[in-house]
Amino acid sequence: MGERRPVFVLLGLYFSSCFHYSAASLYDSNDDLVILDHSNFSSAIYGTQNAWVVEFYNTWCGHCIQFAPKWKLFGTDLKDWEHTIKVGVLDCAENENIPLCREHEIMGYPTIRLFAARTSKGDVGTDLQRSYTVEDMSNSVIDLLAEKQRASNGSSSWVNLQPYRGSSSDVWTEVREYGAVEHAVIIVDVAQSYAARSTILDLGRYSNIVVRYQEAQEKHVREYGAASLPAIIFIDKIGKEEVVSGSSKTRKELRETIVAKLGLNQGMLPYKTVFSGRSDGTVNKEEIEGAGDGQPEEINSDKLNYEDDLPDAAFAGVERKDQVYMVDVENAVSYALGHEVAQHKVIRGDSVKALHDFLDVLVRYLPARPAVHHFLTKLYQYTLSHSDRIEGEQFAEVIKSLQGPDSVLPNHQPWIGCLGSEPKYRGYPCGLWTTFHILTVNSVLQDGNSELYRPKKTLQAIHGYVKHFFSCKYCSEHFQAMYAKDAESSVIVADDGILWLWRGHNKVNKRLKGDESEDPKHPKQQFPSKSACPSCWNGETLKEKEVLTYLKNIYAKGALSFKGTQTIVVPPKNKQAKVREQLEKHKQREREVEALVVNKKRHNVSEDQPLRPLSTWGFNNTDISLCVFLYGISTIIIMSVYCMVVIRRKMRRRRFLETYKLPVRTEKKNNQRSSHESLASDDNHRKVEE
Ligand SMILES: Cc1cc2nc3c(=O)[nH]c(=O)nc-3n(C[C@H](O)[C@H](O)[C@H](O)COP(=O)(O)OP(=O)(O)OC[C@H]3O[C@@H](n4cnc5c(N)ncnc54)[C@H](O)[C@@H]3O)c2cc1C
Ligand SMILES: *[C@@H]1O[C@H](CO)[C@@H](O)[C@H](O)[C@H]1NC(C)=O
Repeated sequence: MGERRPVFVLLGLYFSSCFHYSAASLYDSNDDLVILDHSNFSSAIYGTQNAWVVEFYNTWCGHCIQFAPKWKLFGTDLKDWEHTIKVGVLDCAENENIPLCREHEIMGYPTIRLFAARTSKGDVGTDLQRSYTVEDMSNSVIDLLAEKQRASNGSSSWVNLQPYRGSSSDVWTEVREYGAVEHAVIIVDVAQSYAARSTILDLGRYSNIVVRYQEAQEKHVREYGAASLPAIIFIDKIGKEEVVSGSSKTRKELRETIVAKLGLNQGMLPYKTVFSGRSDGTVNKEEIEGAGDGQPEEINSDKLNYEDDLPDAAFAGVERKDQVYMVDVENAVSYALGHEVAQHKVIRGDSVKALHDFLDVLVRYLPARPAVHHFLTKLYQYTLSHSDRIEGEQFAEVIKSLQGPDSVLPNHQPWIGCLGSEPKYRGYPCGLWTTFHILTVNSVLQDGNSELYRPKKTLQAIHGYVKHFFSCKYCSEHFQAMYAKDAESSVIVADDGILWLWRGHNKVNKRLKGDESEDPKHPKQQFPSKSACPSCWNGETLKEKEVLTYLKNIYAKGALSFKGTQTIVVPPKNKQAKVREQLEKHKQREREVEALVVNKKRHNVSEDQPLRPLSTWGFNNTDISLCVFLYGISTIIIMSVYCMVVIRRKMRRRRFLETYKLPVRTEKKNNQRSSHESLASDDNHRKVEE
């Protein structure tokens, strides 16, 4: 058992490098859209006869939650267009989908991309504006499809969205080749008519009719009257025309009129009515090969027999209202680094600087467990040595390679404080806020009294992360606007940083009250609540001084609960080895701190030299370890002296007794012997003599 454990541990650590962020999808199989993932995205999108419009979303993003109902309606609205275009969704919060989202440079959520028919791997699609109405979005899709078709980026099986320029009697000469066609219809309407073109798409799945649209000219207006557009011209096979005008205006009315007039029914549909998402065209397998991410299968680390990392289980406090849980913070940090940062194609310029600064603040002020702290330190050093450019893919690799028994970026564990009543609620953004509050509070508690402390530093680092990496685009923009308004100007003394973030967060809470992303079980309210901190309130206003005390209380290192965190295994060793390791770790940390200082100097940020923790009365770590070491040595010396004295006394007493009992011959000999000889040799000697 004991022998095998380290192997499991190493395996676990290796696999845990792909942090599983399990989140429930915002969509399911009842919706009129295709759920795509890393295993089938490429085969669905590339090389197929239909175009695609795909929403890249993120389960936890508030705007995605708000947008989901609309996207479902959009899917339903476009259901009949599947021969031409299909509607899909891809969840970028799923770990396995990161490489896909990185390839497509999805930097904010939700992002909507249109992929032309017969496109091949490498095409990242065309951005489609997210609009307020489903109709606006389908109109944009029509414009893009028409454009693709004009550029012959469409498919031959598509319905024709280009305006018909011929005369109505010629329409049959154009469609002769479509053998099965029995009816021809021309919709005459204003130029770029969406009603006409969406009707064409709606009816495109009936293989026995051809529908075109014609831009209304003067003669049409003269003939049918200006108010009667759109006009529908039915042309039978022998060229007889019948015009229906004035009664049908909208897409729905146009479709219904045509369906009724021609007696179209479901039986005439050649296309599958259920969405399958499977490609029906020819797909070049070579092209789509390697579309998966090549990551190893994940194994469930919970099943591994982990041993507690003792110092980390220290918290045994009573849980209170607003209890803050480390597991939420570890989840958020893992997701931030392993997902949001790693999802970038390239990180350069200001983004790399923002990444350094954020890691710097995490290393300094996050009261992380030793192994997690060690990991963050190593990752920080890595970014320092790659300060001009880091590829996201490479960053993901580095995160994997830095994992070891004593260097861990934990993988996702169930949320506790940030657990939502449904998986789409709370989670990551909640964990990120929590992390930010912990950073502002602990930077003040740790270094706030120092003259070297820069009160804006922690907030600046947080702002940098939100600006460059927080993938909820709208959240990030709001936060930046709020920051630009008064963050830097209102932070003068150390405590101001804590208060600014609290105030900002409360503004967001106020704005989001009643929003679709609000968890009904955790309504947005001004923080702290009256019930959690009665003394923080004075009638309807919050008292900053009391709030500050409250925030320091709940976010301080000592107040955090480590419940539910991933157990981190230090391979079992005997005590001696453990002590030796502790000493070695200490020295190692010293070296790291020195390296950091040297590196920082090189990077001209010397004002950021590590500050001494307040609690150590001006001794640095070396002083303290030296003291501990000397203390240990002295204890050992005193103990040994004590033992020697005791042993000797015993010996003397025994000798005295022996002398008293033994015959004279032996007694004489014994007395001649040096008192330095051991008891054992004494006995042996005696035996030999006897
Ligand atoms: C930087 C940032 C900006 C965001 N902007 C937007 C946005 O513009 N639109 C949008 O839809 N969503 C936004 N979000 C997400 C949103 O704020 C919430 O995080 C999300 O809705 C989950 O809410 P929640 O109920 O879990 O609590 P959260 O608001 O995430 O709060 C997490 C925890 O922090 C504590 N807390 C709450 N308020 C305060 C406070 N004032 N001071 C200290 N502690 C507090 C509570 O214990 C709470 O449980 C943003 C998130 C972040 C991190
Ligand atoms: C793609 O895979 C996911 C997960 O296995 C599945 O839910 C979805 O239905 C698949 N989509 C298609 C189009 O096959």
